[in-house]
Amino acid sequence: MKKAHLLLVGIYFSVSPLFAYNADSGEKLYLEAKCQKCHTSDSFTSADSKVKNLAKLKWRVKKCNFAMDAEWFDDEVDDVVHYLNKKFYKFEPSRFN
Ligand code: HEC
Repeated sequence: MKKAHLLLVGIYFSVSPLFAYNADSGEKLYLEAKCQKCHTSDSFTSADSKVKNLAKLKWRVKKCNFAMDAEWFDDEVDDVVHYLNKKFYKFEPSRFN
């Protein structure tokens, strides 16, 4: 029983990177969607940014995505959120939801 459990945990950790958010595809999506029509890097690093955590960042990306009709799926939104977070915001990933 215990061994089987350890095996499952082992499999989980070796497979899980496949499902990790993909910042590279996030960057591609971001560039293709022409987010830069309205945004520069400064939009995301400015001191009066209203985005204070990952949940808020995701909410904002969804909102802009919706306004632009980029029609990303949820996992694509997550990729872009992850890309923007990695590059600009640098929130703790554990606060992602
Ligand atoms: C038509 C113009 C426009 C486009 C195109 C646009 N946005 Fe936005 N975006 C805005 C506006 C307006 C705000 C709000 C700024 C504010 O409240 O200070 C905003 C805010 C944001 C913020 C929060 C910035 C911060 O830290 O306060 C993020 C992140 C963001 N947009 C991501 C995106 C992404 C990703 C795309 C591409 C899918 C995109 N935006 C395309 C207009 C746009």
